[in-house]
Amino acid sequence: RLRAVVKGVGSALPNRCVTNKELEETVDTSDEWIVQRTGIRQRYIAGEGETTSTLGIRAAQAALDRAGLTPDDIDLIVCATSTPDYTFPSTATMIQAGLGCTHGVAFDVQAVCAGFVFAVSTAEKFLVSGSHKRALVIGAETFSRILDWQDRTTCVLFGDGAGAMVLEAEEQSVAAAGGNLPRGVLATCLRSDGRHRAKLYVDGGPSTTKTVGFLRMEGKEVFRFAVGQVTDVMAETFASAGITAEDLDWFVPHQANRRIIDASAQKFGIPTEKVVLTVQDHGNTSAASIPLALSVACGDGRIKPGDLVMIEAIGGGFTWGAAVLRW
Ligand code: ACO
Repeated sequence: RLRAVVKGVGSALPNRCVTNKELEETVDTSDEWIVQRTGIRQRYIAGEGETTSTLGIRAAQAALDRAGLTPDDIDLIVCATSTPDYTFPSTATMIQAGLGCTHGVAFDVQAVCAGFVFAVSTAEKFLVSGSHKRALVIGAETFSRILDWQDRTTCVLFGDGAGAMVLEAEEQSVAAAGGNLPRGVLATCLRSDGRHRAKLYVDGGPSTTKTVGFLRMEGKEVFRFAVGQVTDVMAETFASAGITAEDLDWFVPHQANRRIIDASAQKFGIPTEKVVLTVQDHGNTSAASIPLALSVACGDGRIKPGDLVMIEAIGGGFTWGAAVLRW
């Protein structure tokens, strides 16, 4: 059967890196508080001329280079973002144009921090149906533009960036894999529950305030939900992929907070050495955090062909999901 197989990942960060120490100069916070509660040490912040689509284009081009492909080879672009350049057109079509790609289809998906998992799951369905051959799946964000920089309870947590993955539809079978699990996306599981809107939202939008708005969050409530609930999709994804947590080579969760990541890994007995952690360097980049982390771990040789990888995320809505891929 057709599977959506990973051909390359890439990423892009803004030029400017902002350390916790630098934030101490503008808000009443401390490096110690931020590191202790979140694990974050620095984040990248988009400057003039850097937008969600420009970061997305750079990440997409890097993923194509890694895959040895060109924009002409791509017939599907799915971009996960909650911070689009414009209300419309979609960031995906802007990335398509920026890459010089004039065929196929491009659209955005919006599931906040869970966006990349939703985008992978969406693209996988197009590819295994046979309707499309090669997809660019992108997570790109400039959360710095929706932060209230006076609000220390939120502004220290987030950063900007983009990551991208090329997926290709390929015939895969257990026999061809020598009895191993086939390569590609093996299972995905997505959930949402809109009753939790008030715990994490942006207080503006075109149809309400006609402003962009600022991110608002009940941190403790989000923390509780993230640690308590996200394990349901992980358990279901393991079961539907026919594996257990012990089989995993790498766990690449959404990078929001070190304590949330540690708690999720511990619930399944996943040892720290198998957890890819980038929150210390990037902060929470929402939909970009997983492909950024994948790009780091592929770039430094940790994730190799044949490895079993779980990605997992929770975001505003709430939305949450997980996927298992064999590299
Ligand atoms: N610097 C210094 N002090 C601060 C800061 C700051 N940046 N922010 C808050 N404080 C203070 C508070 O005012 C409070 O002071 P008080 O006791 O005098 O009232 C004190 O620190 C404790 O605040 P809490 O909110 O209780 O701190 P908590 O231990 O819950 O940590 C945090 C806050 C880090 C936000 C935590 O709740 C958390 O990680 N929540 C998850 C949120 C998250 O990850 N969101 C990301 C978006 S959602 C997602 O991606 C899944």
